[in-house]
Amino acid sequence: MHYVSVITLVSLVSCVRGQLLDIPAVDELVQSALKPLANWTDYDGPTGTASAELSKSTEAVDANIAIEAAAVADASYWLAGISHQGKAAFNSNPSSYTVFRNVMDYGAKGDGVTDDTAAINSAISAGGRFGPASRESSTTTPAIVYFPAGTYLISSSIIDYYFTQLIGNPNSMPVIKATAGFSGLGLIDGDQYQSDGNQGWTSTNVFFRQIRNLKLDLTNIPASSAATGIHWPTGQATSIQNVDIVLSSGSGTQHQGLFIENGSGGFLSDITITGGLYGANVGNQQFTMRNLVVSDAVTGISQIWDWGWTYQGLTITNCTTAISVNNGGVGNQLVGSVVVLDSTIQDCSTFVTSAWQSSTSSNGSLILENIALENVPVAVKGPSGTVLAGGTTTIGTFTAPTRPSALLASGSSKYYTKSKPQYEASAQSLFVSIRSAGAAGDGSTDDTSAIQSALTSAASSGKIVFFDQGTYKVTKTIYFPPGSRIVGEAYPVIMASGSAFSSISNPVPVIQVGKSGESGSVEWSDMIVSTQGSTPGAVLIEWNLAASSGSGMWDVHTRIGGFAGSQQQVAQCPTSAAVSAACEVAYMSMHITSSASGVYLDNVWLWTADHDLDSADNTQISVYSGRGLLVEGQNIWLYGTAVEHHSLYQYQFSGAKSVVAGFIQTETPYYQPNPDAANSPYPTNSALKDPDYSSCLSGNCDSLGLRVLDSSNINIYGAGLYSFFNHYSTTCSTFPLPENCQSEIFSIEGSTSSLVVYALSTVGTTHMIVKDGTSLAVVGDNLDTYAATIAYFTL
Ligand SMILES: *[C@@H]1O[C@H](CO)[C@@H](O)[C@H](O)[C@H]1NC(C)=O
Ligand SMILES: *[C@@H]1O[C@H](CO)[C@@H](O)[C@H](O)[C@H]1NC(C)=O
Ligand SMILES: *[C@@H]1O[C@H](CO)[C@@H](O)[C@H](O)[C@H]1NC(C)=O
Ligand SMILES: *[C@@H]1O[C@H](CO)[C@@H](O)[C@H](O)[C@H]1NC(C)=O
Repeated sequence: MHYVSVITLVSLVSCVRGQLLDIPAVDELVQSALKPLANWTDYDGPTGTASAELSKSTEAVDANIAIEAAAVADASYWLAGISHQGKAAFNSNPSSYTVFRNVMDYGAKGDGVTDDTAAINSAISAGGRFGPASRESSTTTPAIVYFPAGTYLISSSIIDYYFTQLIGNPNSMPVIKATAGFSGLGLIDGDQYQSDGNQGWTSTNVFFRQIRNLKLDLTNIPASSAATGIHWPTGQATSIQNVDIVLSSGSGTQHQGLFIENGSGGFLSDITITGGLYGANVGNQQFTMRNLVVSDAVTGISQIWDWGWTYQGLTITNCTTAISVNNGGVGNQLVGSVVVLDSTIQDCSTFVTSAWQSSTSSNGSLILENIALENVPVAVKGPSGTVLAGGTTTIGTFTAPTRPSALLASGSSKYYTKSKPQYEASAQSLFVSIRSAGAAGDGSTDDTSAIQSALTSAASSGKIVFFDQGTYKVTKTIYFPPGSRIVGEAYPVIMASGSAFSSISNPVPVIQVGKSGESGSVEWSDMIVSTQGSTPGAVLIEWNLAASSGSGMWDVHTRIGGFAGSQQQVAQCPTSAAVSAACEVAYMSMHITSSASGVYLDNVWLWTADHDLDSADNTQISVYSGRGLLVEGQNIWLYGTAVEHHSLYQYQFSGAKSVVAGFIQTETPYYQPNPDAANSPYPTNSALKDPDYSSCLSGNCDSLGLRVLDSSNINIYGAGLYSFFNHYSTTCSTFPLPENCQSEIFSIEGSTSSLVVYALSTVGTTHMIVKDGTSLAVVGDNLDTYAATIAYFTL
């Protein structure tokens, strides 16, 4: 057992807790470049707010607008061609509300000449949808806004709406091209600032959003203007995938590809950014970014602030600084922690610049693992100079944690990864619509048998099942046979209801992926699993299937309570009520059983609602679910997963073997400790090795964020285990102390071995790590930005 509170950097192994700063010239450049955008000096509180003075609209400059050839013919893409039968079941008018919107149908030309701004924005807004500041959130107006191949000229921002997926044709990526006089914060503005200076939505509550398959071209905009590709302050269940952003490069450019100033995210993968002052200029509580490729920027990634961030598979080329984490400067470093793994940095003067100095705080904790440097003279630079020399070399690992070979990409030392399948090369004839197969998806018809027979026949004939947008009520278990490929349209919902799920002591799966002993692969993406009414016996997803790799879920979420149609809303489950059966809504979010192996999760949010998404003002509710994610299987990848508000635990690894995870994020239920975990309405089940909360080290026995029991080879690259509330009051999580909402949040028990946790951050918790009832680390020794952080822990 090895617990490191302050880490000394040794040669080319890398674990820097905190950091160093940079060459004054670079720092000045970074600071002055920040000015036109924002003033980040004001850090104020739990949501990680930074105050912003927004840039004024980009000055119009007399410049030639490049005229591009008219749109090429749209290379066929099944999603565009398939019949569009999606229905928003709980919309006030489901029969007239349009889910799938092709921008061409709203007047966009995509010819590179016509200004398509208004047409695109009307494709987004049509049909009584909720724009910025019109409502906190809504689940009743889902939409896909589709861009065929073409060049779409825009003169001001595409204003993204709640529950919107902006999707381009992956076979011929559409180009969104800004005019020279473009104005707005982002070609795509995910959370438009309003005249009162506030964002249109509370960034931490922006859920259910995607951007995919677009190229953004900012090169018409003068380099001297602070122009942004995507403004993306978001929360969980959001993703950006397969997007190219082209910025002006060279001396003096003020462009930035991605701008995220706050939120509680998030996930993105397969993004390429060229040019700019910053490729990405980003701050958020936590995030997972994979396969982000930045070249020719001054600073590849400027980290504005965070509690934790996991970068996997970065490629940063030809930048002055690849990653800066020194924002705030010495003594006030706003970046809590950063983990970088399996990455390549080429032809940059410096890999990481930090403001860390030997210090009693954890600000700027930095973990680097398996990084190839090519012509990067300085690996890590601090305020007093080089901390870690660079060159052309590989930064290995701190203590060489075992990377189980089953988790690695074939023939590589890197972990295996797989992006969400979009089936772009598949013919439309390969897809079977679930609605065409007879499911109603109207939120009231029992669709169990229609869905089951469609899935069974699709798996046996190699077809892909398309769940048209809808809410599909089921009253029995739905079984996914091996070989199933299932993809949703804007997160359709499978909603379990009725007596099959009514026993709190007899768990029944809603979705069962394979049966115990079966092997094969399943691909499942873009869906939600929920329950309706009293369903204390529902296990929303049970995964039994054995696979080698490539089998899993991408952007599939559980959403338990708090939405229209759930009958688990403010009216039924207000926070003031005593626990009632009506508000006992799930036995467990997800169970990866001991027969399961080779299970891959990418951007999965297992969420018991803390508030009602369809109330006017995000009113809090008290719904009770038993358990979050139970992992008993082996060879598991958990990339960008979050588990929140379950009463007994969020993550439990029990008898699990060979798991790679990061960033994992949890929140304890806000109603706890009234009742606490020991008094949860869900009785403990010894067969599932539920935790025993008969005693805690110091008072409140609230739900554990992470429990690791009798497990081996568990490598966690970033964890944020948060407890903000004590029965709806945040006094207990006030920064920097008392941080005593609950006694402990991470428990290691039994015969667990070969466990590595990098950048463990906790909020509101006295004992950060507890092993078999003994405290190994307390919050007061590990204060960081808002969360407390331990850079490296191993057992
Ligand atoms: C940030 O804003 C504060 C308050 O408005 C001001 O005093 C300070 O000079 C600003 N800092 C920068 C770097 O602009
Ligand atoms: C995000 O930042 C903006 C600008 O500083 C601020 O108005 C807003 O309150 C912040 N929101 C959250 C959730 O931190
Ligand atoms: C490196 O980036 C600069 C812009 O910062 C660009 O002008 C130059 O051409 C790039 N060099 C190479 C070799 O791509
Ligand atoms: C760490 O972050 C906190 C919160 O932003 C700040 O108050 C503190 O000064 C920082 N400490 C260091 C050493 O950077």
